[in-house]
Amino acid sequence: MEKKLKLLTYGCQMNVADSERMAGLLKKIGYTLTDDVQNADLILINTCCVRSTAEEKVFGQIGRFKSLKREKPNLILGVTGCMAQKEGENLIKRAPHVDFVLGTGQSGEIARVVQNLEFERKKFVDTSNVNGEIPHEAFPLRGGKISTFVPIMYGCDNFCTYCIVPHVRGRERSRPTEEILAEVEQSVAEGFKDITLLGQNVNSYACGTFAELLREVDKISGVERLRFMTSHPKDLSDELIAAISGGKHICEHIHLPVQHGSDKILQKMNRGYTVEKYLGLVKKIRAEIPNLSLTTDLIVGFPGESDEDFAETLDFLREVKFDAAFTFIYSKRSGTPAATFKNQIEDEIKHERLNKLMKIQNAISLEKNSAMIGSVVEVLVEGASKTDEKIFTGRTRSNKLILFEHGGENAGDLVDVKISQAQTWLLKGKILTK
Ligand code: SAH
Ligand code: SF4
Ligand code: F3S
Repeated sequence: MEKKLKLLTYGCQMNVADSERMAGLLKKIGYTLTDDVQNADLILINTCCVRSTAEEKVFGQIGRFKSLKREKPNLILGVTGCMAQKEGENLIKRAPHVDFVLGTGQSGEIARVVQNLEFERKKFVDTSNVNGEIPHEAFPLRGGKISTFVPIMYGCDNFCTYCIVPHVRGRERSRPTEEILAEVEQSVAEGFKDITLLGQNVNSYACGTFAELLREVDKISGVERLRFMTSHPKDLSDELIAAISGGKHICEHIHLPVQHGSDKILQKMNRGYTVEKYLGLVKKIRAEIPNLSLTTDLIVGFPGESDEDFAETLDFLREVKFDAAFTFIYSKRSGTPAATFKNQIEDEIKHERLNKLMKIQNAISLEKNSAMIGSVVEVLVEGASKTDEKIFTGRTRSNKLILFEHGGENAGDLVDVKISQAQTWLLKGKILTK
């Protein structure tokens, strides 16, 4: 009998990739995806705990399934991912309608866990091996059509003092190059054209250098665009810069989280670089890679952040002029060093600072995008926009979203678009007829 799986994924791209892999494993034991929770025989919530807001969302979602579980006693409800790893059996204590909790290192065992539960209903929790072996073979059931993610490494060894990720994702483990190449080839064969290589810090890829890996993937025919994330500034090599500038399909986009613009805070964060070093790196990259798009992550309200420290971050933003920045309010994560630091910042001040920061960055993003008006960019067509069938969306090589009037193109086509309008988060333009 056909069984239905409803998959809910929270958090970062790594979780998206893990969800696709779990869906692939579950397909082998008869589960096909459904959008409709009412229909599901199995609901999997793949969770994130990077900030408290992420966890609150998950708890809310778990709570919403309580009545459904009562109506459908055969429904299996499982929680996986980073919050599962962090909370373990607490999740079942808090939400007794959850059937199982499986940690991040063991997501490869999902099919076995579900089969056992189909056979015998017994609460099951296993978060014992955060460093569990990465399955060598993957059969991901990929979402999307054009762009997809390929994980190249799992875990993180950096232990930034605010961050829970190393605690819930375990130590860095790199996948052998051949496995990555095989997976990229498989994705291309499925029709994907835009590949993003994933890791918490791709620069510390350990089966050869990351630059070598990028050059290998760049050679695979059918890869139209090659991206990667995330790069830690402390070890972005000259070899990598050269690989990007000499690459064929490697996109001119680097996501380089800086987190803060003051040396005092960077040191307390254990980031391993100074503002000066980061600025030097940006200068070097921009000199080597014309048309580079540079994006970043920033945290406001880290413990001990004074008005002056925050002002340094604003100055820093004005100096670097990122294309876009993802800005976060510091969230205390128990078990991390920063949670015990003195001088935690009040919520009200955190919000004020976030608003100021976003306002300044939004103006910069708009300025950067406006400077592109009149230029012609290569766009990978994604498909019709959600609101208007005649308007299509696509991505520039720099990964900016662009809207244009449809002229008979198909998803996956590469077209030239002349930019006519700019907003903070998107561009608009007209297709040039060839
Ligand atoms: N490995 C990646 C990102 C991991 S988490 C990297 O190092 O860049 C994504 C982003 O969440 C981080 O870059 C950071 O800006 C933010 N983040 C992590 N922990 C946080 C916390 N406790 N509070 C607020 N933001 C946090
Ligand atoms: Fe977290 Fe730092 Fe690792 Fe990124 S590098 S996942 S911010 S500990
Ligand atoms: Fe990603 Fe959230 Fe885990 S950001 S690594 S899903 S804690």
